[in-house]
Amino acid sequence: MGKIALVTGVTGQDGSYLSELLMDKGYTVHGLVRRSSSFNTDRIDHLYEDPQEPERKLFLHHADLADGVGLVKLLRAIQPDEIYNLSAQSHVRVSFDTPLYTGDITGLGALRLLEAARAAELDTRFYQASSSEMFGSTPPPQNEETPFHPRSPYGCAKVYAYWSAVNVREAYGLYAVNGILFNHESPRRGETFVTRKISRAVARIQAGLQEGLYLGNLDAARDWGYAPEYVEAMWRMLQADAPDDYVVATGETHTVRDFCEAAFRHADLDWMEHVRFDPRYTRPSEVDDLIGDATKIRRILGWKPEVGFTELVGIMVDADVRRLEDELSGRLVRIDR
Ligand code: NAP
Ligand code: GDD
Repeated sequence: MGKIALVTGVTGQDGSYLSELLMDKGYTVHGLVRRSSSFNTDRIDHLYEDPQEPERKLFLHHADLADGVGLVKLLRAIQPDEIYNLSAQSHVRVSFDTPLYTGDITGLGALRLLEAARAAELDTRFYQASSSEMFGSTPPPQNEETPFHPRSPYGCAKVYAYWSAVNVREAYGLYAVNGILFNHESPRRGETFVTRKISRAVARIQAGLQEGLYLGNLDAARDWGYAPEYVEAMWRMLQADAPDDYVVATGETHTVRDFCEAAFRHADLDWMEHVRFDPRYTRPSEVDDLIGDATKIRRILGWKPEVGFTELVGIMVDADVRRLEDELSGRLVRIDR
């Protein structure tokens, strides 16, 4: 019998890659989907199986991190060996507009799920999607010993969730881990995060559909990796002999300006002719510089990134160019890896 996993945030960037990885490894995956008035399963539609299929490996359930009782009922029914908590209001800029909602879902939501696992009396392993945003203004390089100084309601909520996972581990012996992931991107990245906003705009500008691109702070520096590699790190953390917390990063940093230059250059365009400043995209308090030191996970779990910055930019721009071509020609838009 293969293992059973529950993936919250299954409709998001990481949830879709993680589901693919787990299904390839023979898991049965249960995904938590929140109710939406429009379809929100684009990223996992290619994994969807007919409910009549007897050998199904993917099951979707309506639930919400706001609804603690629903989580207990779901966990009792599924009895997962592993829980990956990827659900969050994950947009940092939006968290300044919706700080209480972000605290409720991104922070308290993680504790609701942990408490639901305890209430359901499961012998399970728990992965919490922690974030480099927790380091905030603490200077780089950042590793597992670096103090947190979050700079956004999102960062504060993630710190709460981080310590909630550590606390259930220490208090009740639950196998709970934090993956402190630095930014990771892909063709499935949400369209309003800066990398995807840029790669999408490059495709549209190249096709003559758009002239300019409005961005905020170009000086911010991020340690950008490739999402499919990062979900492998999540899985490895839950296979270890003992629960522990790990930084996952490339160890390289680039500014938003660098990303613009590289993405426009990839399409033979000059970013300076197209990129303009709009203060609406700046944040009341910013995280200036993130560089992760992932020595620990490399040493203990043997994980290391392969895709570098220039390759990542190329993957994203090429995917958006292809996607736009599909859209314009009326072809079915395929999901990109
Ligand atoms: P994402 O694409 O924004 O996906 C977030 C997921 O959470 C979506 O499936 C979303 O559902 C779901 N969600 C939102 N509110 C919910 C609620 N109230 N109840 C249940 N589900 C809810 O994020 P991602 O990039 O895949 O990141 C996955 C996790 O890692 C997040 O927790 C994020 O904060 C964290 N993280 C991400 C990065 C990164 O660079 N990507 C780095 C560090 C940590 P809908 O599809 O319906 O919106
Ligand atoms: N989104 C966005 N839009 N960001 C912009 C823009 C813009 O138009 N212009 C400049 N930026 C800058 C932001 O100010 C920030 O410094 C940087 O680009 C990256 O922004 P995002 O791509 O929105 O990502 P993030 O770093 O704030 O947060 C992401 O990474 C975290 C890990 O460090 C999210 O995925 C979080 O969920 C994740 O935890």
